[in-house]
Amino acid sequence: MKTTIEEVSKYVGQEVTIGAWLANKRSSGKIAFLQLRDGTGFIQGVVEKSQVAEDVFQRAKSITQETSLYVTGTVRIDERSPFGYELAVTNIEIIHESVDYPITPKEHGVEFLMDHRHLWLRSKRQHAIMKIRNEIIRATYEFFNHNGFVKVDPPILTGSAPEGTTELFHTKYFDEDAYLSQSGQLYMEAAAMALGKVFSFGPTFRAEKSKTRRHLIEFWMIEPEMAFYEFEDNLKVQEQYVSYIVQSVLKNCSLELKTLGRDTAKLENIQPPFPRITYDEAIQLLHDKGFTDIAWGDDFGAPHETAIAESFDKPVFITHYPTQLKPFYMQPDKNRPEVVLCADLIAPEGYGEIIGGSERIHDYELLKQRLEEHHLPLEAYKWYLELRQYGSVPHSGFGLGLERTVAWICGVEHVRETIPFPRLLNRLYP
Ligand code: 4AD
Ligand code: MG
Repeated sequence: MKTTIEEVSKYVGQEVTIGAWLANKRSSGKIAFLQLRDGTGFIQGVVEKSQVAEDVFQRAKSITQETSLYVTGTVRIDERSPFGYELAVTNIEIIHESVDYPITPKEHGVEFLMDHRHLWLRSKRQHAIMKIRNEIIRATYEFFNHNGFVKVDPPILTGSAPEGTTELFHTKYFDEDAYLSQSGQLYMEAAAMALGKVFSFGPTFRAEKSKTRRHLIEFWMIEPEMAFYEFEDNLKVQEQYVSYIVQSVLKNCSLELKTLGRDTAKLENIQPPFPRITYDEAIQLLHDKGFTDIAWGDDFGAPHETAIAESFDKPVFITHYPTQLKPFYMQPDKNRPEVVLCADLIAPEGYGEIIGGSERIHDYELLKQRLEEHHLPLEAYKWYLELRQYGSVPHSGFGLGLERTVAWICGVEHVRETIPFPRLLNRLYP
């Protein structure tokens, strides 16, 4: 019976054949332990000299790391392994021998691993991270589909810049200038006026010269946008959505979380409601914690976000930022126009901002004025302004950065491990 590691629990006591790679190996004179992986999971194959033909045992002892194989064996329950099963090997057929695999079980430097990302992905740790990333994506579609949202795909090549003009990737679009999308938001606003509640999931690009553990040049964003949702409604969806993905990972990826050594008690606690503080309160909190360098009107850096997050055991919303710090489209607070109806969601444990969102300006004149204040070309935003000319309604939305969310849920230090092929400052290979 040909099967996969993921499916072996169905075949306890039976003989199965699995197409696999040798991840690692330990052997003595009488027994060989093969760490096998097949993409669906990892399992130990046990080859006992006394139980197999001599040539099979010799093959087991000499196979090299990452050689591809067909392994046949009987599935046994193994209480000592976190996976719960092992394979009592009866035969090994080599498909392709791997020679001098560069990533050995010893420690390697980060740059070396990054240069071999195409192979590094095969490791148990990277496998676990990619599975959790996939579960977050799966749960995202499930959450929004269950809640009446329609998936809409905004364009990648655009003529406008939602998040400021300094971090744009420029390209030619035949004779016109074009930019790689920084955010699908403006298009999602148009879609919300057509479909009510929408969400997107796609790549976004920021030519940011930042070299931090939270910044990628190319990253993936989930961007919901909701017609008739005001500031408060927006925060409710966010805390429900974030809790949903965390609980889904806990439920469906317990093995992967164990592989990563993640403290799951911290994740179990992630349930609505999330704490909220205003920007003003955040500044006060930072002063109380001894950050004398920050004043009203300054943006928070990573150390500030980490210090704020330390006061909470759930993600925390920081609301009502100064208008001058935020993009042109955010709705000012009507009682206090120097701040906007926005919120950033800061993950616990120092993982930083995972969501940026706001209520959007829906008044035509105000939006036009804000575009002018930001020196943005009105022709490029003509269509966006028109959304405020034909039955404009209050609406809100947000963007969740997938890689930062994966980093937080996995407990992984740097976003470079949370995307299959990271695009970083000075890294386009592989
Ligand atoms: O806060 P940002 O810039 O918000 C927007 O782009 C809005 N237009 C979204 C919306 O309202 N539809 O980005 C949203 C999130 C951040 O909170 C962060 O998680 C992530 O995207 N992000 C990055 N992730 C990795 N590398 C970068 N360089 C990132 N820049 C933003
Ligand atoms: Mg932001």
